[in-house]
Amino acid sequence: MGHDLAASFRPVAPPRVIENAYPEDQHRRLLGVVRDHGPWPLILAHHFKSPEEVLATTSGDVPEGVQLTWDMFLSPVFRGYLARGGVCLFREIEDCYYNSGFLDLVRSYWGARYAEPESMLFNLQGPCREGGSPHIDGTRFRGLQMENTPTWLLNTMSKSGLFRRWQAKKAQVIAWYYRGRIGGGFDYWPDGPQGRPRQMPAPMWGRAVVVENERMYHCAQSNGPAALRHPEGLAIDSRLAPDPETEGGFRITTGDRVIQRIPADEMRFLVHWGAQVYLDDEELRVAQDHTDDLTHERAFEILIADLRARGECFELPSDPLTDRAFIRLLNRVYDLGAPSQRPPEPDEVPLVP
Ligand SMILES: [Fe+2]
Repeated sequence: MGHDLAASFRPVAPPRVIENAYPEDQHRRLLGVVRDHGPWPLILAHHFKSPEEVLATTSGDVPEGVQLTWDMFLSPVFRGYLARGGVCLFREIEDCYYNSGFLDLVRSYWGARYAEPESMLFNLQGPCREGGSPHIDGTRFRGLQMENTPTWLLNTMSKSGLFRRWQAKKAQVIAWYYRGRIGGGFDYWPDGPQGRPRQMPAPMWGRAVVVENERMYHCAQSNGPAALRHPEGLAIDSRLAPDPETEGGFRITTGDRVIQRIPADEMRFLVHWGAQVYLDDEELRVAQDHTDDLTHERAFEILIADLRARGECFELPSDPLTDRAFIRLLNRVYDLGAPSQRPPEPDEVPLVP
């Protein structure tokens, strides 16, 4: 059944490519915030407290007796938040966040009447193997979002397809700055994870896509020399900050130890701007007056009714939010499977421009 559900995972419209997403002056200020306000933690350190939590949001179990370690999941991609909800965290980039041009792009992408900026963050990395396996981005539903609901439940609700009525309509403008010669592109599956994948190749400097990444599988292509993609000594508390010894370069530290120095040319900088859209006045009203919000109880009622309709036998959990057997059951039933085709990985030999 997973494949039927998976086939429905298509964005509202194919990604639209734009150039010069942030004019030079904006790009300089964005990078200035990154340089001035670090050091920055790994993506994983933002979102997970243990390797077990990572596994719970990816796929299923490991065999009995296998000890989970961070090393199984660590990837040297660092992240910082530039805005949270309606609040831009840095005065010097407010024009990048409250961005009328981007609001026009996402309204037009959805054919929506209204849009509001909802999030802004960056990913920054040096050489790195695949920046995560193909995935859809976390979403929110009226009444249930990251602030009051675990990521695994939001992901399950999204995968189940049962909660579209409450799901936020979102779009992103994702921009890249990467001049490296090896990989660093953007892989995506606009026809669903079983469809043909596409690749937007790097290098790119200010190229961006307008997308709906909650409904489209995507991931980063590996980038940089293979031998440098997993720096020795990388740990969950590693940090990234400007390297005082190299103009434009960065360095990764673990504790007091510098474990990697990365020249400016190998840095891959991604700026992720997200908005929520409302198709019309009615949709905006329902979102703002909370007359049709979900609760945890209602969400579990809907999931449990669907499991029963599918003929699944299970014991009703007393606390479904933490019941591991129940979570495993949901993982299995709403497993969409991995994409069947992957775009090519980069050639190790740098291409002659
Ligand atoms: Fe993503």
